[in-house]
Amino acid sequence: MSKMQLGVIFGSRTCEHEVSVISALQLMRAANRDTYDVIPIYISKKGEWFTGEPLFEMATFSPFEESRKGIVRVTLDLTAGSGVLTTLEPAKGLFGKDHHRLVARLDCVIPVMHGMHGEDGSLQGLLEMCNLPYASSGVGASALGMDKVYMKDFFKGCGFPVLPSCWFLRKAWEADPEQIMEQIEKELSYPVFVKPASLGSSIGVSRATDRKSLKEALEVAYEFDRKVLVEKGIEDPLELNCSVLGYNGEAKASPIEMPITSGALLSFMDKYGSNSSKGMASLKRVLPAPVEPELRDEIQSLSLRIFKAMDCKGVVRIDYMFAPQENRLYITEINTIPGSLAFYLWEASGISYAELIDQMVHCALEAKEDKDNSNYAFTSDILKNITLGGKAGAKNGLKNA
Ligand SMILES: Nc1ncnc2c1ncn2[C@@H]1O[C@H](COP(=O)(O)OP(=O)(O)O)[C@@H](O)[C@H]1O
Ligand SMILES: [Mg+2]
Repeated sequence: MSKMQLGVIFGSRTCEHEVSVISALQLMRAANRDTYDVIPIYISKKGEWFTGEPLFEMATFSPFEESRKGIVRVTLDLTAGSGVLTTLEPAKGLFGKDHHRLVARLDCVIPVMHGMHGEDGSLQGLLEMCNLPYASSGVGASALGMDKVYMKDFFKGCGFPVLPSCWFLRKAWEADPEQIMEQIEKELSYPVFVKPASLGSSIGVSRATDRKSLKEALEVAYEFDRKVLVEKGIEDPLELNCSVLGYNGEAKASPIEMPITSGALLSFMDKYGSNSSKGMASLKRVLPAPVEPELRDEIQSLSLRIFKAMDCKGVVRIDYMFAPQENRLYITEINTIPGSLAFYLWEASGISYAELIDQMVHCALEAKEDKDNSNYAFTSDILKNITLGGKAGAKNGLKNA
């Protein structure tokens, strides 16, 4: 049997570009080569798409040089069901013409993106248009999971526990910062956590304890996003994370990890600093988390309910904070494409990374089958008797069409 052509898309225009490179290289190393031909697809910081053997190596990315031997600039054919990646070959000889050369024909894609332009539903939308199976959550769940304001409103609507918060647009902040800060102080008490709505890896997240630090925190957050969330802070929370894997109502929850924080919040350096080539897998953690069985069961069952409510697909990680003062659990966030794809949590339950990839691919193929089982062609004759206003054949914007 021929091997599955498995595209792994990573990089892209996001603050978490480097984290995505680490996650993707780990995944590509772990994939079973007897089952898959792995095709790396790297989206540069400028948004250009590339493939080629050097993309399996970490050294290729520091810094990335597209002129490096073996790297080819590619384009994905948007035609539904095609999956074709091509490269534009320049003309040879005097009368030659530029032409597209086929580089690969993808059967399935694993998006290994963190943050904007990849984890947020945009790439998922593109892959839906291409009708290509892909192993991450769909457009809706990805978009909900990326934007912390949408996410919290959704969780609230479902009756899931989230901390009180408020949010503001950059335009309102620029127009009247004092009024925004007054409103925050009216709604919440210090300490508060200030977060760009659509970021991850703790970038732009700060803790504020008074008006001065609030102003600084908001200024930082608005550099990264036009939408900023301000949330009631918990003192010394126990952070507890749980991964969920599955699709279509069939899902399982992983063991729970307790990441170790070095300061008032789990920082970018806590997550990736100690051995950055391992990404999230290098974070200092206690696994399984030393929590009572009741709390463990509560987290796992809530995680499964969240996964179902959002109609997620593949592997996600849901992060929690347990407030010891109140003896209460709150959802911090969901990561629809978690750092290192949370493989280390699955390894802890006896599922190797290679098996995890197989299961993710299985979810992708099942979702595609599901999609193909819906009808997209409803036949009607409503176009027959329609007369439009305006002049027929009026000049349009097409050139040489
Ligand atoms: N309300 C809060 N109270 C206490 N700590 C918080 C709160 N919100 C966030 N944190 C800390 O900040 C970290 C990053 O916040 P999070 O919402 O997960 O953003 P990101 O998506 O960037 O990971 C958390 O892991 C936690 O350490
Ligand atoms: Mg987080």
